[in-house]
Amino acid sequence: MNEKSNRCWLLINRPISEPSEDDFEIRENPIPDLGKNQFLVKIIYLSVDPYMRGRMRDGASYAPPAALDEVMVGGAVGQIIKSNNDSYSEGKIVQGNFGWQEYAVSDGVGVNVVDTSLAPISTSLGVLGMPGLTAYFGLLEVGRPVLGETIVISAAAGAVGSVVGQIAKIKGCNVVGIAGGSEKCRYLEEELGFDYTIDYKSQLNISNALDSTCPKGIDIYFDNVGGAILDEVLNHINLGARIPICGMISEYNLSEPQLVPRPTRALLVNRARMQGLLVWDWVERRQEGIEQMARWIKEGKLHYKEDILEGIDKAPEAFLKLFKGQNFGKQIIKVGDLQ
Ligand SMILES: NC(=O)c1ccc[n+]([C@@H]2O[C@H](COP(=O)([O-])OP(=O)(O)OC[C@H]3O[C@@H](n4cnc5c(N)ncnc54)[C@H](OP(=O)(O)O)[C@@H]3O)[C@@H](O)[C@H]2O)c1
Repeated sequence: MNEKSNRCWLLINRPISEPSEDDFEIRENPIPDLGKNQFLVKIIYLSVDPYMRGRMRDGASYAPPAALDEVMVGGAVGQIIKSNNDSYSEGKIVQGNFGWQEYAVSDGVGVNVVDTSLAPISTSLGVLGMPGLTAYFGLLEVGRPVLGETIVISAAAGAVGSVVGQIAKIKGCNVVGIAGGSEKCRYLEEELGFDYTIDYKSQLNISNALDSTCPKGIDIYFDNVGGAILDEVLNHINLGARIPICGMISEYNLSEPQLVPRPTRALLVNRARMQGLLVWDWVERRQEGIEQMARWIKEGKLHYKEDILEGIDKAPEAFLKLFKGQNFGKQIIKVGDLQ
């Protein structure tokens, strides 16, 4: 064992409704020695993402639950500082599901080497990582935008939504973002070029707001939040509308499912298509998405914002911010420095 310690956050409780900092516990573990073909990663940035709320729950989903009393699951990017694996040499920057900890041991399974020439390495957790790829493939493959169409995006100022809106602009759509608060709405219109925004926290009548911002109806609704906003948008969709179901963050902390109107009538009348999506469905095309988005960043067509908290001790706090809309941009935690 190495004398240096590895601070880790463990999941110690499965919340029924709102998660809290008490659901996690920090522990200092020794850094284990490396086995055959293994390498040691010093984590530089750690990602917190809404999907982690689902992993805290027990039960069937698209991925197994995070285990209790084990290091909390999560994506991270770091530097290899020791290696017994010829394909992963010391100094390389790698991204993978390394968990909420300062050091991770890996054998390379599920690990991606980060091309540091494209953008700062933190982007491998955001615009050039899982959220950006979700936006790219979710919009282009499920939303299928067409020049002149109207798209509405919820959680529009977030990691996924902000990229969806900008790609939709590149494709020539009229883009309407729904976000919480005037600062986020101003950012979307003034810095990202959204045509209109709806501040759902101050706009009590979402239906009126959709009428005035989408006079020709809605062709694509990229849904990140579910709940009442989805119900309302369905009353405004056009013939042949596409509704990529990316997430439902407004429902993640509910202990009981809500009783709501069924969406089937709106889908039938409009011959509309509502389709769930999972970013991993396009894992084989990951490089294509990264290269295209990196090109758009270089051309000044795609902008990104990161909200970075300092220190591994901030991981639960950073995670909880997501459910209160307190993150402004991709929520990341800076855990260490490059060597
Ligand atoms: N299907 C996939 O493969 C996939 C992959 C990545 C992410 N996702 C999903 O995409 C969605 C966005 O993820 P992200 O990483 O981009 O997060 P994010 O938007 O950066 O952060 C979450 C945002 O959700 C909004 N929010 C929180 N509670 C809300 C509520 N009750 N009602 C309405 N909005 C609420 C907040 O924005 P406001 O301040 O605007 O309220 C908050 O900032 C999530 O649902 C996530 O699970 C899916």
